[in-house]
Order: sequence, then structure tokens, then C-alpha cells
Amino acid sequence: MLALRMPWPLPALIAWAGAWLIFVALQRAVPPVAALLVACLLGTAASVLGGSWWRRGLIAAGFPLSLALLGAASLPTWAWLVPLSLLLLVYPLNAWRDAPLFPTPRHALQALAVQAPLPPGARVLDAGCGLGDGLKALRQAYPAAQLEGLEWSWPLRLLCAVLCPWARVRRADMWKADWSPYHMVYLFQRPESMARAAAKAEAELAPGAWLVSLEFAVPGVLPSAQLRAPGGRVVWLYRMPLNRVEG
Ligand SMILES: C[S@@+](CC[C@H](N)C(=O)[O-])C[C@H]1O[C@@H](n2cnc3c(N)ncnc32)[C@H](O)[C@@H]1O
Repeated sequence: MLALRMPWPLPALIAWAGAWLIFVALQRAVPPVAALLVACLLGTAASVLGGSWWRRGLIAAGFPLSLALLGAASLPTWAWLVPLSLLLLVYPLNAWRDAPLFPTPRHALQALAVQAPLPPGARVLDAGCGLGDGLKALRQAYPAAQLEGLEWSWPLRLLCAVLCPWARVRRADMWKADWSPYHMVYLFQRPESMARAAAKAEAELAPGAWLVSLEFAVPGVLPSAQLRAPGGRVVWLYRMPLNRVEG
């Protein structure tokens, strides 16, 4: 992601400066709360440039915090809910429980098609697709596949659809979605989500379909294959039906 290539703290400095510029410029034209909303929108959108949770938080919170500390605008107390609400829109709480926004590295899946070949036109789902980095890596592995993404956060879903116009991206809860039409479901979530994902895959995916997870293995299941992605991360491949280990 372009975002992650910018050296820290450049993304934060650019986001804060941009938010302040917009706020000062807009204050002459619109009420202060509206100026705060637009400036915070910029800061929150720019927060996806942070490579870790605390960096994202700093990028998003820098402008409203500095505004509060400087007391540079007379705003009603409720106006401070604006930055908080924006953050919750981009990073909804239930998505935090499953996985924060960490992208699949660009070449992480380059060897996937050798271990898990798919027919042309196969449907592949990135469950929790974020900004589309997983979809881009899947596209590199399977240029002839039909790629689809599900994302809980609607701003991320919109951005992802813009960044990956060749994929079908929808806003949905991946746990409620039907996985049965897919030849492969790809996940980059959390270790705690893997048992649930395996149970869902076992119940819904057809025999021969694949569950693929970057970094996190399914506990108590033998992988059909595993790959070491550039950078040292492991890609775990499970072909249906799952090979559960007794005990
Ligand atoms: C670690 S990121 C991975 C993003 C993308 N798959 C990639 O590999 O680049 C996890 C994403 O899953 C999304 N997510 C978490 N829980 C979700 C759910 N229940 N339904 C849909 N998306 C979810 C989060 O919002 C976040 O964008």
C-alpha cells in the first residue's frame, strides 16, 4: 500500500496539516461544527496510512486533540463526538474483535496457485477485504478468477471498490455471508477467529474448495499445504473436507 511506504511520521504530519488547513479555510464559510466534521473526515480517512494501531490512532486523533488543547474554536461539547463517530465508522467495534486493518503484503500469495490451482472463472472470496490488498495479491495469483470481497466497514468497502474496480466488493458480515459458492475463501484475520472460520468452511464449502489463511493456522486441523510468503509469514492452506486431528 502506498500508505505504508511513506516513512513515519510523514503520514501523520501530512494528515494533521491537511486537516488544519481545511478547518481554517472552511471556518470562514461554514459553521465550526461543519468545518470540524470535514477536517476530521480527512484525518480519519488518512488514518488508514498508519501501519499499526497506535499510528492510525495518532493520525486520526492528532487534529481534534490539538484543536481541543489550543481551544482554537468555540464548539459545543457534543461536537467532540464527531471524531469519535467517524473512527467507529471506519473501524467498527465488531471488526476490531475479528481483525484490525492490516493489509496482505503485495507478493504474499505469489506461490499460492501452484499448491491450490483453480479453474478459470473460479469464485474467490476475501472475507474481510479491508482496502483490497488481499484481493490484489489474489489477483496476482489467479488472474482468471472472479474475485469478490466482503467488508464490514462501509467506508473501507467503498474505498476498496474504488481501488479494486475489477473485483465485486460488498459491505457485509463475513460470518453471516454464504460461503458455499466459493472455490476459495481467503482470510487474514486473527488467531481467535480461525476455529470459527474452519467450522463455517466445513459446513458451507464444497469438497475440494479451499480455506486459505495468512499467518494464522486453524487449531486442531492438519493443513493440506503451507507456504512461506516473502517476509517470512506463513500461508496456511486447507482443502475441504478438513483433516481434523483427534484429541
Ligand atoms: C487484517 S484486515 C485484512 C484486510 C484484507 N483481507 C487484506 O488481507 O489486505 C481484516 C479486515 O477484516 C474486516 N472485518 C473484520 N471483521 C469482519 C466481519 N465480521 N465481516 C466483514 N469484515 C470484517 C476488518 O474491517 C478489516 O478490514
